[in-house]
Amino acid sequence: MTSPATHHVAVRDTRIAVHTAGSGLPLLLLHGFPLDHGMWARQEPLAEQLRLIVPDQRGFGGSTGPGPESIEQLADDAVALLDALHVAGPAVICGLSMGGYVAQHVAARHPDRIAALILVDTRLEADTPEVRSGRVDLAAKVGRLGQGLVADAMIPRLLAASPEARAAAGRSEIEAELRRTIVSQPVTTIQTALAALGARPDMTDAMRRLRVPALLVVGAEDELTPPACMEQAERVIPDARLLIVPRAGHMTPLEAPGVFNSAVLEFLRDS
Ligand code: MLT
Repeated sequence: MTSPATHHVAVRDTRIAVHTAGSGLPLLLLHGFPLDHGMWARQEPLAEQLRLIVPDQRGFGGSTGPGPESIEQLADDAVALLDALHVAGPAVICGLSMGGYVAQHVAARHPDRIAALILVDTRLEADTPEVRSGRVDLAAKVGRLGQGLVADAMIPRLLAASPEARAAAGRSEIEAELRRTIVSQPVTTIQTALAALGARPDMTDAMRRLRVPALLVVGAEDELTPPACMEQAERVIPDARLLIVPRAGHMTPLEAPGVFNSAVLEFLRDS
């Protein structure tokens, strides 16, 4: 495996920090909200077989900019990043939660750029009015009280809550890592991303038309996007396989990295 490298790449009107490792079939890993590339650290072993491309999406982590205006904008950024890295052929696009919304938009807007889709702890549907209004409240509160409030509100819901999951080795490190990441995101990025998340459209019809294989992964204890969301996606997407991971919540690649990494490799071998 080549050692991971970090680049800063001009992408449209922003500069994207992107971490790359390995060679072979490109696998783009798109992080969730309000996180950055670091959430994929446990996927680094995949670079023994794949070319990993792991950006901080605009406004997050080391990438500049005021944060996303829309999920469509993030999808166009992702494709412009692939162009900037000279990825000419189709890539495997994988996203968790917000990253999963972005991945679906890449598939819908740029179908020639996608070899396979991996959706993790995400959903196809738009927000309900209640969820949307919760985002408006959170955006206002984060402006007054700072990012710690988002960490406090989200972390208990990001990780599996069963006694077995809480007792798992490495659990407190994952919690600390998530807190560090969330509090380091700019307030304006959190606010613009909340608005973009709330405005995103329903992707059910677009996913019905997907013409590449899809792997759907969800933690059995995911509270934010429960297994029913991915079961619904399995019914909609023509060529989909579903994996429900025991003792994992909304952060399956961190909570069960071995299971997740093996599932990705097996899926890509069979596709
Ligand atoms: C995420 O993990 O990216 C968020 O939970 C997505 C969302 O709030 O819809």
